[in-house]
Amino acid sequence: MFLLGSLKSQTKIAPWRVVIRTLKVSVVGAGGGIGQPLSLLIRRSPGIDELALHDLSEMKGIAADLSHVSQEGKVIGFTGEVELEPALSGADVVVVAAGMPRLPGMLRDQLMAANGSVAVKVATAVSNACPGALLAFITNPINMIVPTAAEVLKAHGAYDPRRLFGITTLDVVRSKKFIGDAMKISPDKVNIPVIGGHAGITILPLISQCQPEFKGGREDVQKMTHRIQEAGTEVVNAKAGKGSATLSMAFAGAHFVDSLLRGIGGQEGIIECAFVASELTEAPFIASLLELGKYGIKRYLPLPPMSVNEKEAFEKLLPVLKQNANEGIDFARKSL
Ligand code: LMR
Repeated sequence: MFLLGSLKSQTKIAPWRVVIRTLKVSVVGAGGGIGQPLSLLIRRSPGIDELALHDLSEMKGIAADLSHVSQEGKVIGFTGEVELEPALSGADVVVVAAGMPRLPGMLRDQLMAANGSVAVKVATAVSNACPGALLAFITNPINMIVPTAAEVLKAHGAYDPRRLFGITTLDVVRSKKFIGDAMKISPDKVNIPVIGGHAGITILPLISQCQPEFKGGREDVQKMTHRIQEAGTEVVNAKAGKGSATLSMAFAGAHFVDSLLRGIGGQEGIIECAFVASELTEAPFIASLLELGKYGIKRYLPLPPMSVNEKEAFEKLLPVLKQNANEGIDFARKSL
Protein backbone atom coordinates (compact mmCIF):
# COMPACT_ATOMS: atom_id res chain seq x y z
CA MET A 1 0.00 0.00 0.00
CA PHE A 2 1.27 3.48 -0.73
CA LEU A 3 1.36 5.87 2.18
CA LEU A 4 1.43 8.97 0.06
CA GLY A 5 3.09 11.91 1.94
CA SER A 6 0.77 14.32 3.65
CA LEU A 7 -2.58 13.93 1.93
CA LYS A 8 -3.37 17.57 1.57
CA SER A 9 -6.07 19.37 -0.30
CA GLN A 10 -5.73 19.84 -4.04
CA THR A 11 -5.34 23.55 -4.51
CA LYS A 12 -2.18 24.77 -6.24
CA ILE A 13 -1.69 25.56 -9.89
CA ALA A 14 1.80 25.42 -11.39
CA PRO A 15 2.92 25.54 -15.03
CA TRP A 16 3.50 21.79 -15.32
CA ARG A 17 0.60 20.68 -13.20
CA VAL A 18 -3.08 21.24 -13.67
CA VAL A 19 -4.42 20.88 -10.15
CA ILE A 20 -2.29 19.45 -7.40
CA ARG A 21 -2.06 19.18 -3.64
CA THR A 22 0.28 21.31 -1.56
CA LEU A 23 3.89 20.18 -1.29
CA LYS A 24 6.48 20.08 1.47
CA VAL A 25 10.17 19.43 0.80
CA SER A 26 12.60 18.82 3.69
CA VAL A 27 16.36 19.19 3.31
CA VAL A 28 18.45 17.39 5.94
CA GLY A 29 21.96 18.82 6.22
CA ALA A 30 20.69 22.13 4.86
CA GLY A 31 23.36 24.20 6.58
CA GLY A 32 26.31 22.48 4.91
CA GLY A 33 28.36 23.06 1.79
CA ILE A 34 25.89 21.12 -0.38
CA GLY A 35 22.78 21.84 1.70
CA GLN A 36 22.83 25.62 1.37
CA PRO A 37 23.13 25.91 -2.44
CA LEU A 38 20.83 22.88 -2.78
CA SER A 39 18.14 24.58 -0.72
CA LEU A 40 18.53 27.77 -2.73
CA LEU A 41 18.18 25.90 -6.03
CA ILE A 42 15.21 23.86 -4.76
CA ARG A 43 13.48 27.21 -4.10
CA ARG A 44 13.30 27.59 -7.88
CA SER A 45 11.02 24.55 -8.28
CA PRO A 46 7.43 25.75 -8.52
CA GLY A 47 4.66 24.66 -6.19
CA ILE A 48 6.58 24.07 -2.95
CA ASP A 49 4.46 25.38 -0.09
CA GLU A 50 6.94 24.56 2.64
CA LEU A 51 10.70 24.13 2.49
CA ALA A 52 11.94 22.74 5.80
CA LEU A 53 15.67 23.19 6.44
CA HIS A 54 17.26 20.95 9.04
CA ASP A 55 20.77 20.74 10.38
CA LEU A 56 22.57 20.14 13.64
CA SER A 57 23.86 23.73 13.64
CA GLU A 58 21.51 26.70 14.12
CA MET A 59 19.27 27.08 11.06
CA LYS A 60 17.32 30.26 11.96
CA GLY A 61 19.61 32.60 10.02
CA ILE A 62 19.80 30.49 6.86
CA ALA A 63 16.02 30.00 6.90
CA ALA A 64 15.43 33.76 7.37
CA ASP A 65 17.84 34.52 4.52
CA LEU A 66 16.26 32.02 2.12
CA SER A 67 12.74 33.09 3.06
CA HIS A 68 13.42 36.51 1.42
CA VAL A 69 13.83 34.99 -2.06
CA SER A 70 10.83 36.07 -4.11
CA GLN A 71 9.27 32.63 -4.50
CA GLU A 72 5.98 31.26 -3.28
CA GLY A 73 5.87 29.20 -0.07
CA LYS A 74 7.46 29.43 3.34
CA VAL A 75 10.92 28.42 4.55
CA ILE A 76 11.29 27.10 8.10
CA GLY A 77 14.52 26.24 9.92
CA PHE A 78 14.85 23.30 12.33
CA THR A 79 17.88 22.71 14.52
CA GLY A 80 19.33 19.67 16.26
CA GLU A 81 18.36 16.00 16.49
CA VAL A 82 15.34 16.89 18.59
CA GLU A 83 13.88 18.86 15.67
CA LEU A 84 14.55 16.25 12.97
CA GLU A 85 11.09 14.67 13.10
CA PRO A 86 9.29 18.04 13.23
CA ALA A 87 11.34 19.07 10.15
CA LEU A 88 10.21 15.95 8.29
CA SER A 89 6.63 15.87 9.51
CA GLY A 90 4.25 15.55 6.56
CA ALA A 91 7.03 15.97 3.95
CA ASP A 92 6.42 14.79 0.40
CA VAL A 93 10.12 14.77 -0.50
CA VAL A 94 13.07 14.44 1.88
CA VAL A 95 16.54 15.06 0.48
CA VAL A 96 19.56 14.25 2.62
CA ALA A 97 22.87 16.07 2.16
CA ALA A 98 24.10 15.59 5.74
CA GLY A 99 27.37 13.83 6.50
CA MET A 100 31.13 14.08 6.24
CA PRO A 101 32.93 14.68 2.91
CA ARG A 102 35.98 12.80 1.65
CA LEU A 103 39.52 14.03 2.19
CA PRO A 104 42.29 13.52 -0.39
CA GLY A 105 43.38 9.87 -0.49
CA MET A 106 40.07 8.55 0.87
CA LEU A 107 37.59 6.28 -0.92
CA ARG A 108 33.87 6.97 -0.57
CA ASP A 109 33.44 3.60 1.19
CA GLN A 110 35.60 4.88 4.04
CA LEU A 111 32.88 7.42 4.88
CA MET A 112 30.48 4.69 5.98
CA ALA A 113 31.78 4.72 9.57
CA ALA A 114 31.00 8.44 9.84
CA ASN A 115 27.90 8.68 7.64
CA GLY A 116 26.11 5.33 8.13
CA SER A 117 24.42 6.71 11.24
CA VAL A 118 22.95 9.56 9.15
CA ALA A 119 21.09 6.99 7.05
CA VAL A 120 19.87 5.19 10.18
CA LYS A 121 18.69 8.35 11.94
CA VAL A 122 17.01 9.89 8.91
CA ALA A 123 15.31 6.65 7.81
CA THR A 124 14.02 6.15 11.36
CA ALA A 125 12.72 9.72 11.50
CA VAL A 126 11.12 9.36 8.06
CA SER A 127 9.39 6.17 9.23
CA ASN A 128 7.86 8.11 12.13
CA ALA A 129 7.24 11.52 10.60
CA CYS A 130 6.53 11.07 6.88
CA PRO A 131 6.41 7.36 5.96
CA GLY A 132 4.98 8.15 2.53
CA ALA A 133 7.69 10.61 1.51
CA LEU A 134 10.09 10.13 -1.38
CA LEU A 135 13.50 9.85 0.33
CA ALA A 136 16.61 10.76 -1.66
CA PHE A 137 20.18 10.56 -0.36
CA ILE A 138 23.20 12.53 -1.51
CA THR A 139 25.23 11.38 1.51
CA ASN A 140 28.17 9.10 0.61
CA PRO A 141 28.87 6.26 0.22
CA ILE A 142 25.63 6.10 -1.79
CA ASN A 143 26.25 2.42 -2.69
CA MET A 144 25.96 1.51 1.02
CA ILE A 145 23.81 4.33 2.42
CA VAL A 146 20.76 3.42 0.32
CA PRO A 147 20.79 -0.29 1.35
CA THR A 148 21.22 0.85 4.99
CA ALA A 149 18.23 3.17 4.75
CA ALA A 150 16.16 0.44 3.04
CA GLU A 151 16.87 -1.96 5.89
CA VAL A 152 15.92 0.62 8.54
CA LEU A 153 12.70 1.54 6.70
CA LYS A 154 11.90 -2.20 6.44
CA ALA A 155 12.41 -2.64 10.17
CA HIS A 156 9.90 0.14 10.80
CA GLY A 157 7.35 -1.16 8.27
CA ALA A 158 7.78 1.95 6.11
CA TYR A 159 9.72 0.55 3.15
CA ASP A 160 8.58 0.97 -0.40
CA PRO A 161 11.46 0.46 -2.89
CA ARG A 162 9.81 2.88 -5.28
CA ARG A 163 10.26 5.74 -2.84
CA LEU A 164 13.95 5.42 -1.90
CA PHE A 165 16.73 6.89 -4.05
CA GLY A 166 20.47 7.51 -4.09
CA ILE A 167 21.09 10.61 -6.16
CA THR A 168 23.61 9.81 -8.90
CA THR A 169 22.60 12.74 -11.09
CA LEU A 170 26.06 14.33 -10.71
CA ASP A 171 27.53 11.47 -12.76
CA VAL A 172 25.10 12.31 -15.56
CA VAL A 173 25.72 16.06 -15.17
CA ARG A 174 29.49 15.50 -15.45
CA SER A 175 29.10 13.17 -18.42
CA LYS A 176 27.01 15.76 -20.25
CA LYS A 177 29.53 18.52 -19.50
CA PHE A 178 32.72 16.59 -20.34
CA ILE A 179 31.27 15.02 -23.49
CA GLY A 180 29.62 18.29 -24.55
CA ASP A 181 32.96 20.09 -24.20
CA ALA A 182 34.81 17.34 -26.09
CA MET A 183 32.25 17.44 -28.90
CA LYS A 184 32.03 21.26 -28.83
CA ILE A 185 28.28 21.20 -28.26
CA SER A 186 26.12 22.41 -25.39
CA PRO A 187 26.00 19.93 -22.47
CA ASP A 188 22.21 20.32 -22.63
CA LYS A 189 22.25 18.62 -26.03
CA VAL A 190 24.03 15.53 -24.65
CA ASN A 191 21.98 12.57 -23.46
CA ILE A 192 23.73 9.68 -21.81
CA PRO A 193 22.70 7.03 -19.30
CA VAL A 194 25.07 6.46 -16.37
CA ILE A 195 24.35 3.20 -14.59
CA GLY A 196 25.90 1.07 -11.82
CA GLY A 197 26.75 2.94 -8.64
CA HIS A 198 28.41 6.10 -7.37
CA ALA A 199 32.03 5.19 -6.65
CA GLY A 200 35.03 4.44 -8.86
CA ILE A 201 34.49 1.59 -11.32
CA THR A 202 30.83 1.24 -10.31
CA ILE A 203 30.13 4.51 -12.17
CA LEU A 204 29.49 3.33 -15.73
CA PRO A 205 28.69 6.00 -18.33
CA LEU A 206 27.31 4.19 -21.37
CA ILE A 207 29.18 6.22 -23.93
CA SER A 208 28.04 3.81 -26.67
CA GLN A 209 24.49 5.07 -26.02
CA CYS A 210 25.40 8.77 -26.02
CA GLN A 211 23.16 10.98 -28.12
CA PRO A 212 24.48 12.56 -30.29
CA GLU A 213 26.99 9.81 -30.96
CA PHE A 214 30.37 10.30 -29.22
CA LYS A 215 32.85 10.31 -32.06
CA GLY A 216 36.08 9.02 -30.63
CA GLY A 217 38.31 5.97 -30.80
CA ARG A 218 38.60 3.29 -28.12
CA GLU A 219 41.25 5.29 -26.27
CA ASP A 220 39.08 8.44 -26.23
CA VAL A 221 36.17 6.44 -24.82
CA GLN A 222 38.43 4.93 -22.14
CA LYS A 223 39.81 8.34 -21.17
CA MET A 224 36.36 9.89 -21.02
CA THR A 225 35.01 6.99 -18.91
CA HIS A 226 37.94 7.33 -16.51
CA ARG A 227 37.50 11.12 -16.22
CA ILE A 228 33.81 10.67 -15.34
CA GLN A 229 34.56 7.91 -12.83
CA GLU A 230 37.28 9.95 -11.13
CA ALA A 231 35.61 13.37 -11.35
CA GLY A 232 34.65 13.38 -7.66
CA THR A 233 38.27 12.67 -6.74
CA GLU A 234 39.40 15.47 -9.09
CA VAL A 235 37.34 17.90 -6.97
CA VAL A 236 38.44 16.36 -3.64
CA ASN A 237 42.09 16.77 -4.67
CA ALA A 238 41.55 20.31 -5.98
CA LYS A 239 39.91 21.29 -2.68
CA ALA A 240 42.99 19.87 -0.92
CA GLY A 241 41.41 18.90 2.39
CA LYS A 242 38.51 21.36 2.30
CA GLY A 243 35.89 18.79 1.26
CA SER A 244 34.37 17.45 -1.94
CA ALA A 245 32.01 18.68 -4.64
CA THR A 246 29.33 20.95 -3.18
CA LEU A 247 28.13 23.32 -5.91
CA SER A 248 27.93 20.84 -8.78
CA MET A 249 26.40 18.33 -6.35
CA ALA A 250 23.78 20.91 -5.32
CA PHE A 251 23.04 21.59 -9.02
CA ALA A 252 22.58 17.87 -9.64
CA GLY A 253 20.57 17.28 -6.46
CA ALA A 254 18.21 20.15 -7.18
CA HIS A 255 17.67 18.82 -10.70
CA PHE A 256 16.75 15.42 -9.29
CA VAL A 257 14.42 16.88 -6.63
CA ASP A 258 12.72 18.93 -9.34
CA SER A 259 12.18 15.73 -11.35
CA LEU A 260 10.69 14.01 -8.27
CA LEU A 261 8.33 16.97 -7.84
CA ARG A 262 7.35 16.95 -11.50
CA GLY A 263 6.57 13.24 -11.18
CA ILE A 264 4.46 13.86 -8.07
CA GLY A 265 2.72 16.61 -10.00
CA GLY A 266 1.69 14.10 -12.65
CA GLN A 267 4.03 15.20 -15.44
CA GLU A 268 4.60 12.32 -17.84
CA GLY A 269 7.88 11.02 -19.25
CA ILE A 270 10.24 12.06 -16.44
CA ILE A 271 13.27 9.81 -16.93
CA GLU A 272 16.27 9.94 -14.59
CA CYS A 273 19.15 7.68 -13.58
CA ALA A 274 19.22 6.96 -9.83
CA PHE A 275 20.54 4.33 -7.43
CA VAL A 276 17.61 2.23 -6.23
CA ALA A 277 16.55 -1.24 -5.14
CA SER A 278 16.10 -3.19 -8.32
CA GLU A 279 15.50 -6.60 -9.82
CA LEU A 280 17.17 -5.74 -13.12
CA THR A 281 20.41 -7.51 -12.19
CA GLU A 282 21.85 -9.80 -9.53
CA ALA A 283 22.86 -6.69 -7.51
CA PRO A 284 20.01 -5.76 -5.15
CA PHE A 285 20.68 -2.01 -5.59
CA ILE A 286 21.89 -0.36 -8.76
CA ALA A 287 21.69 2.93 -10.64
CA SER A 288 19.62 2.61 -13.78
CA LEU A 289 17.12 4.51 -15.88
CA LEU A 290 13.78 5.08 -14.18
CA GLU A 291 10.54 6.78 -15.05
CA LEU A 292 9.30 8.89 -12.13
CA GLY A 293 5.66 9.31 -11.28
CA LYS A 294 3.22 10.33 -8.56
CA TYR A 295 4.50 7.79 -6.05
CA GLY A 296 8.18 7.74 -6.94
CA ILE A 297 9.39 5.11 -9.41
CA LYS A 298 6.68 4.46 -11.97
CA ARG A 299 8.70 2.18 -14.25
CA TYR A 300 12.14 0.56 -14.31
CA LEU A 301 13.46 0.95 -17.86
CA PRO A 302 15.35 -2.08 -19.18
CA LEU A 303 19.14 -1.91 -19.10
CA PRO A 304 20.33 -0.06 -22.21
CA PRO A 305 22.38 -1.92 -24.83
CA MET A 306 26.12 -1.89 -24.10
CA SER A 307 29.31 -2.16 -26.13
CA VAL A 308 31.58 -5.16 -25.51
CA ASN A 309 33.84 -3.08 -23.24
CA GLU A 310 30.88 -1.65 -21.33
CA LYS A 311 29.48 -5.16 -20.81
CA GLU A 312 32.83 -6.25 -19.42
CA ALA A 313 32.93 -3.23 -17.08
CA PHE A 314 29.33 -3.94 -16.06
CA GLU A 315 30.13 -7.54 -15.12
CA LYS A 316 33.01 -6.25 -12.98
CA LEU A 317 30.93 -3.71 -11.07
CA LEU A 318 28.08 -6.06 -10.09
CA PRO A 319 30.05 -7.97 -7.41
CA VAL A 320 31.21 -4.64 -5.95
CA LEU A 321 27.61 -3.42 -5.69
CA LYS A 322 26.54 -6.70 -4.07
CA GLN A 323 29.34 -6.41 -1.53
CA ASN A 324 28.47 -2.74 -0.85
CA ALA A 325 24.79 -3.64 -0.34
CA ASN A 326 25.72 -6.36 2.16
CA GLU A 327 27.90 -3.93 4.08
CA GLY A 328 25.11 -1.35 4.16
CA ILE A 329 22.56 -3.91 5.34
CA ASP A 330 24.94 -5.20 8.02
CA PHE A 331 25.49 -1.67 9.25
CA ALA A 332 21.72 -1.17 9.59
CA ARG A 333 21.20 -4.48 11.39
CA LYS A 334 23.92 -3.64 13.91
CA SER A 335 22.36 -0.23 14.51
CA LEU A 336 18.77 -1.40 15.01
C1 LMR B 1 31.25 13.42 -5.99
O1 LMR B 1 31.10 12.57 -6.86
O2 LMR B 1 31.74 14.52 -6.21
C2 LMR B 1 30.77 13.12 -4.60
O3 LMR B 1 30.40 11.78 -4.49
C3 LMR B 1 31.74 13.50 -3.54
C4 LMR B 1 33.00 12.68 -3.54
O4 LMR B 1 33.42 12.26 -2.45
O5 LMR B 1 33.59 12.49 -4.59
